[in-house]
Amino acid sequence: MTETTRAQGPAVREEILAYYARGEEDGRLRQGSDRLEFWRTQDVLRRLLPDAPAKVLDVGGGSGIHAEWLARDGYGVELVDPVPLHVEQAGRLPGVTARAGDARALPAEDASYDVVLLLGPLYHLPERADRVRALGEARRVVRPGGLVVAATINRFAGLHDMLRQELYFTDPHRALVDREMEEGRHDSEDGGHFTTAYFAQPHEAPEEFEEAALTVDGQYGLEGVAWLMGGIEDWLDDPDRREAVLVASRHIEREPTLLGTSGHLLTAGRRPR
Ligand SMILES: C[S@@+](CC[C@H](N)C(=O)[O-])C[C@H]1O[C@@H](n2cnc3c(N)ncnc32)[C@H](O)[C@@H]1O
Repeated sequence: MTETTRAQGPAVREEILAYYARGEEDGRLRQGSDRLEFWRTQDVLRRLLPDAPAKVLDVGGGSGIHAEWLARDGYGVELVDPVPLHVEQAGRLPGVTARAGDARALPAEDASYDVVLLLGPLYHLPERADRVRALGEARRVVRPGGLVVAATINRFAGLHDMLRQELYFTDPHRALVDREMEEGRHDSEDGGHFTTAYFAQPHEAPEEFEEAALTVDGQYGLEGVAWLMGGIEDWLDDPDRREAVLVASRHIEREPTLLGTSGHLLTAGRRPR
């Protein structure tokens, strides 16, 4: 179901809206090596979430890639996203209600969800104050004791990806990544493949959770080192090898020395009771 309220609160950057209006997000996690991010997110969330039925708010939920299976698992899923195409796509999914909105000013009642997911907004908010504001909104709308899970892109994900794709050997990719590593800021004007984003060090999200008065339960590296291996796409096509990759990634998901090797990191915390 799609609710046609207009996006409220602070404006989302034009280039971010234009990037997602291209309509490529819906297929991203369904193919190639990005399937690892999808399966690992699902694997971690299935262990962290309370039993269904529980109410989940999927903030920055995109076209509903996770909302879809969460609804199928029996959760009551509402999705908020600033991109009209995503709201329309997610709103067509069975059991999912989708509406326009921004993570920094959620169109939602206080203490009205058991779980708030932020699997996207934090890395599209380059300013720390905006990320803390988004986490503060998650705290407001989740019930006391409820779960908040946020995804960040790791600071060196761009460097690792460029090396893996052999693009780091040439400019402008190399110059872009070298700049990105300094401050974490990925600027779309730099000709990269992504849009404006912030690539965080693993310690940043827990600090931002605490500033937003959320406690931190733990962090989970999603792709480990497997996403950097040359054979990863073929391994994910083979059910036995895929399972082995998922098990291997699970083994190291909380290993502090390896958290930053993953492309994506989940930080899980709670609103204090
Ligand atoms: C890479 S997609 C991730 C989609 C999905 N959550 C997933 O995990 O695959 C990032 C999403 O964040 C959304 N987004 C960007 N800025 C946002 C903001 N300020 N508030 C809420 N969502 C935002 C985008 O529209 C997009 O759908």
